[in-house]
Amino acid sequence: MKHVTHIKDLGPEGVEAVLAQAEAWKKKAPGALFPGSILGMVFFNPSLRTRTSFEAVMLRGGGSAIILDVGAGVWKLEHREGAVMNADRAEHLKEAAPVLSRFVDMLGVRTFSQGGGDEEDEVDPIINAFRKWATVPVVSMESAREHPCQGLADVLTLRETFGTTKKLPVTLTWAPHIKPLPKAVPNSFLLSAAAAGCEIRVAHPPGFELHPTVRAEAEAYAKATGGSITYTHEQDEALAGSRAVYAKSWGPTAAAAFSPNDVTALLASYSGWMPTLRTMSRAAKDAAFLHCLPVRRNVEVADEVLDHSSSRVVDEAGNRFHVQRSLLHWMRSQSR
Ligand code: CP
Repeated sequence: MKHVTHIKDLGPEGVEAVLAQAEAWKKKAPGALFPGSILGMVFFNPSLRTRTSFEAVMLRGGGSAIILDVGAGVWKLEHREGAVMNADRAEHLKEAAPVLSRFVDMLGVRTFSQGGGDEEDEVDPIINAFRKWATVPVVSMESAREHPCQGLADVLTLRETFGTTKKLPVTLTWAPHIKPLPKAVPNSFLLSAAAAGCEIRVAHPPGFELHPTVRAEAEAYAKATGGSITYTHEQDEALAGSRAVYAKSWGPTAAAAFSPNDVTALLASYSGWMPTLRTMSRAAKDAAFLHCLPVRRNVEVADEVLDHSSSRVVDEAGNRFHVQRSLLHWMRSQSR
């Protein structure tokens, strides 16, 4: 049984296999890949792209999807072992995950960071509880540490735009927001782009470092694929010569040390990091702009960037379908 909840479940070889198949099937669509199969989709958090793209993969592949919104028509779920369940969580994953596994062929799970800090996010407690208790393959629809399907779609978009990702100079830049966001998306872009051999420059203000374990894992992928990673607190320095600019907001490293007002003020103090056309002019002439969406216009990214012909954000979202179709097929082939 093959779970894919983190890029390490694929490694550079799996990333390449999934992307190559996704590209091939974009050119020549396969027949029904999942006839009679059911994907159970458990959402602890909202979604537009993930929800529709996974369901579309199943419907277009001859299968179907059952969507469960935790706490909205579905019992609130406890994941902590030994918990005294005397509050609002009426069911434990020890029962819920194996019970759901009796009805579906695969389980997708979306469970964002619970705001307990980077160390808790590294443990990724809820998605790992699903891995432990489900008896069918589990696929991440974004968890506390990573959003692997987003990372795969990001890299597919780069490959389609530039023909190759090998040694492609790309900037992952921090962007402002009204509140601190989880690090799953920047983590996944870093890991996926490193597994695809990119020359990655990461730019963020001081105090917004990505977790050392994520950085070490990405470094190992870059070493294996001929890529490279550098870090800077100067956005312009990262942008010079970059063929792609990937913007994403994330919260400070020591988020727990800030009061809500302090963190809002901290984020506001870096409003100059919002990508504009001036920002893009620092990158290569043909630079593409990427963002995972949803995006807060004129807070995180300026209208003039999102509306410019260099923006690939809609194609990038569309690629979620293609990488997920390929990924579910790959997982099934690995599980046999
Ligand atoms: N990028 C992404 O995962 O979008 P949703 O949150 O809408 O699913």
